[in-house]
Amino acid sequence: MIKVSLISLGCAKNLVDSEIMIGHLHQAGMVVIPEAEKADVVIVNTCSFIDSSKEESIGHILEVHQNRGLRKRRKEQKLIVAGCMSQRFSKDLSSELAHEVDAFIGLDQITRVAPIIEGIFAKERGANPVSEVHVTPRSTYIPDYNTPRFRLTPKHFAYVKIAEGCNHPCTFCIIPQIRGRHRSRTVDSVVAEARQLVKEGVRELNLISQDTTFFGMDTWDERPNPRTPVDSRRGAALTTLLRELNAIEGDFWIRLLYTHPAHWSDELIQTIAECPKVARYIDIPLQHISDAMLERMQRETSGGYIRDLIRRIRAGIPGIAVRTTFIVGFPGETEADVDELCDFIRETKFERLGVFRYSQEEGTRGAKMEHQVPAKVKEARWHRLMALQQEIARGVSKSQVGRTIRVLVEEPGVARGEADAPDIDGRVYLPRDLPVGEFVDVKINSFHDYDLLALPTGEQPVVYKIAKQAQ
Ligand code: F3S
Repeated sequence: MIKVSLISLGCAKNLVDSEIMIGHLHQAGMVVIPEAEKADVVIVNTCSFIDSSKEESIGHILEVHQNRGLRKRRKEQKLIVAGCMSQRFSKDLSSELAHEVDAFIGLDQITRVAPIIEGIFAKERGANPVSEVHVTPRSTYIPDYNTPRFRLTPKHFAYVKIAEGCNHPCTFCIIPQIRGRHRSRTVDSVVAEARQLVKEGVRELNLISQDTTFFGMDTWDERPNPRTPVDSRRGAALTTLLRELNAIEGDFWIRLLYTHPAHWSDELIQTIAECPKVARYIDIPLQHISDAMLERMQRETSGGYIRDLIRRIRAGIPGIAVRTTFIVGFPGETEADVDELCDFIRETKFERLGVFRYSQEEGTRGAKMEHQVPAKVKEARWHRLMALQQEIARGVSKSQVGRTIRVLVEEPGVARGEADAPDIDGRVYLPRDLPVGEFVDVKINSFHDYDLLALPTGEQPVVYKIAKQAQ
């Protein structure tokens, strides 16, 4: 029996791909084990978003290769590179890493991983080895509800990939070139998967894609204009999906991640407000607020549009926590642009905020632009925004003290509220005896920067029992 170990890097979309690979390995009768040193095959599922992610991916590949050399297992243990870096650079890497890597596989080959492994074992590599390359140039694959998959997240939460690829022209981003054009799953397919997950005890469905608000629109007859309001009467949309997911019986949260601001609409705001299972949380990467920067980044939005949208979201969904990300140091960014961004952050008081230093990525239009910003300046701007946000985050946390909120217990002593997405946001610390994977009502009694400290309400912890499992 072939033993396989998989190292999953990058984002939640890549994690779902890892889960699909493991599902197919199990289906083919292979065993997946955590210890790379004991495996017959090691798969490194890579990320290629920015330079540091590529370095991390290469680091893992070389480490696996060196370790098998140390254990004199160079011949028996096979090394496969999958994921975004493989999809993007397989041509270059297959010659540079011909001695280290047995095969490169692309994003559309994740369901074929088992026969590819069998093929590698069937062949003996010669004295001058050449890496096999199984990569199709334009990724078009999208999983379905019945795609074999083995979840790597804890039992109580899951990522649901509702679409793949991206049609936006952002000049800083390489992902559309890696993951291909946007393609949505059907509403029925996502609902069937969600129903099954809830039945298995999942308490939080995290909806992911490159642009979650574009869900369904790729199937419309008329291409939606980013600057005109979305209307789901033209076809399936995120609003249709949210209402159907909300109707699934059971006690669970639906969390929206990666929503591009361009396709938000009043209809979506109203839908979230009317669907109690949709968490009062949105992840909406804005990237900048200055018109000059938004134009150069080709974000299909303007400062005025974004300000108005955030105002409508806050007014339409009371209690919403807004998470965003900004990029500092994009080519041409001036101190005045950063001042405007800081003023906007100060005014808006985002509950959650991440800041990236711009990374000049080969193959993007931003990389060729004039007026690249020196690394030192990017660093200073990053520190300025982070310091500002830390102050705001303290205020946000302080405003929670004394409030009773519902949390999902992640592990003994640690939980997340509606305002905290897995892995990226803060934590709620509480007594260790509360049941992992269940919802509990707690009262916030203190805070530390981004994290909250809480106790269960009343004398006895209140635990929400699931009265009836979803059908
Ligand atoms: Fe994700 Fe990295 Fe690919 S962020 S989409 S794994 S380039």
